[in-house]
Amino acid sequence: MKNHHPSSTEQIPVDLSEGDSNLSSMRKVWHKNEIDANTRRWLALDERYFLRQTLSTPCLNVLDSCGESVIKDLQGKRYLDFHGNSVHQVGFSHPKVIDAIIDQLKKLSFCTRRYTNIPAIELAKKLSEIAPGNLSKVLFAPGGTTAVGMALKLARTVTGRFKTISMWDSFHGASLDCMSISGETMFRKNVGPLLPGAVHVPPADRYRCLWDPEGNCEICGLKCADYIDYVLEKEGDVSALIAEPVRNTAVNPPPPGYWKAVRKSFDRHGALLIFDETAICLGRTGKMFACENFDVVPDILTIGKGLGGGIMPFAAMIARPDLDVAPEKGLGHYTHEKNPVASAAALATIAVIEENNLAERTCCLGKVAVQKLNLMKDKHMLIGDVRGIGLLMGIDLVRDRKTKQRAISEAEQIMYECLKRGLSFKTSQGSCIPLSPSLTIEQSELERALDILDEAISVVEYKLPIF
Ligand SMILES: Cc1ncc(COP(=O)(O)O)c(C=O)c1O
Repeated sequence: MKNHHPSSTEQIPVDLSEGDSNLSSMRKVWHKNEIDANTRRWLALDERYFLRQTLSTPCLNVLDSCGESVIKDLQGKRYLDFHGNSVHQVGFSHPKVIDAIIDQLKKLSFCTRRYTNIPAIELAKKLSEIAPGNLSKVLFAPGGTTAVGMALKLARTVTGRFKTISMWDSFHGASLDCMSISGETMFRKNVGPLLPGAVHVPPADRYRCLWDPEGNCEICGLKCADYIDYVLEKEGDVSALIAEPVRNTAVNPPPPGYWKAVRKSFDRHGALLIFDETAICLGRTGKMFACENFDVVPDILTIGKGLGGGIMPFAAMIARPDLDVAPEKGLGHYTHEKNPVASAAALATIAVIEENNLAERTCCLGKVAVQKLNLMKDKHMLIGDVRGIGLLMGIDLVRDRKTKQRAISEAEQIMYECLKRGLSFKTSQGSCIPLSPSLTIEQSELERALDILDEAISVVEYKLPIF
């Protein structure tokens, strides 16, 4: 690795890698100034009855309703939700999804194991039709974490090996197996032994590249992919690589050719490629599946979050048909493995995405939004980098464009300034602001959100009075 560069080595504060802190002084000011007595009473009750946990508690606010691109709090204030936990591809409470759920609830609300049902079969068929390449055999799971767990088990079964390669700073779920392959210290530290054989490598990062400080992939020649090949060779018996094709919260599309090079390495070593698209599937990146942007088909694909239409918790693993080799194993064995209501919600969600060409629309809206973000970058020195693929967008804030020192407190201030003005998102990796609106967002709403962001950055950058 050449040139020790501050941008490459600066550590992200452990508690800020995945999202902003709920315990900061800025949060206290927000509560004092923006939250009324009634909401405070509910927040106190939430604290009284829920176990506390990182990134969730104490809660930011209490929601009362949601619809389309907007969430509304108890005080009646509306926020454009540019986080939505990545469930809101078709927006919140889409009427077609709600109707499908209600119709199914009245008919068959649950499916006991050993039985099957028509919505589940139709969904499995639909996924196998729209999934890239020959991915065509499906298992459902109650959430992304459990779908990733199934993928890990399947890879072990198929290859007879147990080691995995995954990325530092990644997140694949908070169960013990998923924490083992995830790369965020906050989830990995102080939990006791994690899965053996979970090897981590640095993610491809064009802005904060470990190998070339200028992030010039042509000069560097994809050392990030070469390094994975090197690790594969040294480990010798890796079962699979698991990664998001684009890291969701940092919004880091890899350099051209990266996934093709990695795919080649894995083929050469007889190891599998698992793409975890839990957070970025179903149109978010301008294609139905994010990997289609890179012309690479994994051996196993996991999807989730928005699959349930933003209403039902649901996820799926879609695998190559020749990987259907474990009829004697409990790969998932989940109570809700063929949930008819969640399947109906997923079918309706996919229909909405297809009928409204949401993936294409996302592509167009995303291009315009990224152009606007780049114009903002010309104006605001705080913006070090703008990235985006479809409506998965992000900016990385820096105190100095040369050293790329992360502008961490500034990112948090900007977040609260945006909240005040009716735009909600979280921060990630301390200095990144990921922007993921509903794919059904009106152009005018998207423009308003970017105007709010622009104004909030001005307030922070030019140190205008805050609050
Ligand atoms: C990439 C990725 N994989 C897996 C998960 C876990 O999904 P779930 O919370 O539905 O279990 C998440 C959740 O944020 C995720 O972003």
